[in-house]
Amino acid sequence: MLQAIKYSKGKLEILDQLQLPFIEIFIPIRSTEDGWHAIKDMKVRGAPAIAIVAMLALASELTSALEGSMIPRSAEEMCQYISTKLAYLVTSRPTAVNLSDAARKLETLVLNRAKIAESRGSDVAHTFIQAAEAMLGDDLKDNQRIGHNGAEWIAKYAVKPGHSQVAVLTHCNTGSLATSGYGTALGVVRSLAANNTLQHAYCTETRPYNQGSRLTAFELVHDGIPATLITDSMAAALLASAEAGVGAIIVGADRVAANGDTANKIGTYALAVLAKHHGVKFLVAAPRTTIDLATKSGREIVIEQRPASEVTSIKGPRSDAESIDGASIESVQIAAPGISVWNPAFDITPSALIDGIVTEVGVVEKGAEGQYHLDGLFDAPSV
Ligand code: MRU
Repeated sequence: MLQAIKYSKGKLEILDQLQLPFIEIFIPIRSTEDGWHAIKDMKVRGAPAIAIVAMLALASELTSALEGSMIPRSAEEMCQYISTKLAYLVTSRPTAVNLSDAARKLETLVLNRAKIAESRGSDVAHTFIQAAEAMLGDDLKDNQRIGHNGAEWIAKYAVKPGHSQVAVLTHCNTGSLATSGYGTALGVVRSLAANNTLQHAYCTETRPYNQGSRLTAFELVHDGIPATLITDSMAAALLASAEAGVGAIIVGADRVAANGDTANKIGTYALAVLAKHHGVKFLVAAPRTTIDLATKSGREIVIEQRPASEVTSIKGPRSDAESIDGASIESVQIAAPGISVWNPAFDITPSALIDGIVTEVGVVEKGAEGQYHLDGLFDAPSV
């Protein structure tokens, strides 16, 4: 299985996604600062992966500090040290809730550890490291459950009578590269393929950053899943095509508000509108760590604005095939110089357009009155 995050005993490495699909190179993340920059610069991206790398970056830093005995001695000072680092990590990207959710949970954990009598700074550090390390395995298990639950739902509700297979469309990258492994929406595609329910997978290019053509296409080719790439503007024609036979669109999420409104990669909202028009099922797949009950609706979600250069230029391998200072990828300007640009990284899909939210504990649908009730998801035990 593809793996974008490698971690062992305080040593963290990530696959540099800026170099994909041309070069597969792992880079070390030794400190909180390294982690912050890797997230900000999109060397790692995708809501669950961002959270995991951020926490493991701090875990790696703490491991080195423990080895060199360079850590705060008292439990209280260690908590303060960890809180400051977490607050900094959370500033790297604003929209995906998984990062702030992980920071909040691990901060609570270390504060509780510090309350135990005679706790030392090193005990608090070990508690943080263990919790960060557990995130890798927990996320993988959650994704496999999401894949199973989503594939089951699609087999039941999106496969046409008399057929055993269905074609699906996905957007952005939600696979092994965006998580600790397997993926969320792409995990559902993987499960459909494994169950022999997948007729064909279509993936959008996902302009402007091309997570679809660079990353999802890379994963689909890697796994040998029958797949076809389309540009974002071809989605309506694809859904109208009886030959393509798309029965479901499945996307990931960066934050799901309490009412089901979903922030995800720019272009998701357009796909949901198209799905409604064509009577195609529209599913969001995400772990419960992406559901933010404190955010009542999509209107409260902060949407990250990205640099204009992502729209005005496109990246590819250097034409001279030389790597200069590790820069094997070059940018080519494709827009008229001087044009102004709007580049929101995400959009909000209203819950009314979403047929189901697939999580590791099941698929939630709207109630009879047309509203999502997501709080019940948190009553279910972890899997
Ligand atoms: O800007 P990105 O590449 O971090 O955006 C990623 C997405 O929008 C994904 O669809 C989302 O994070 C879900 S990843 C399992």
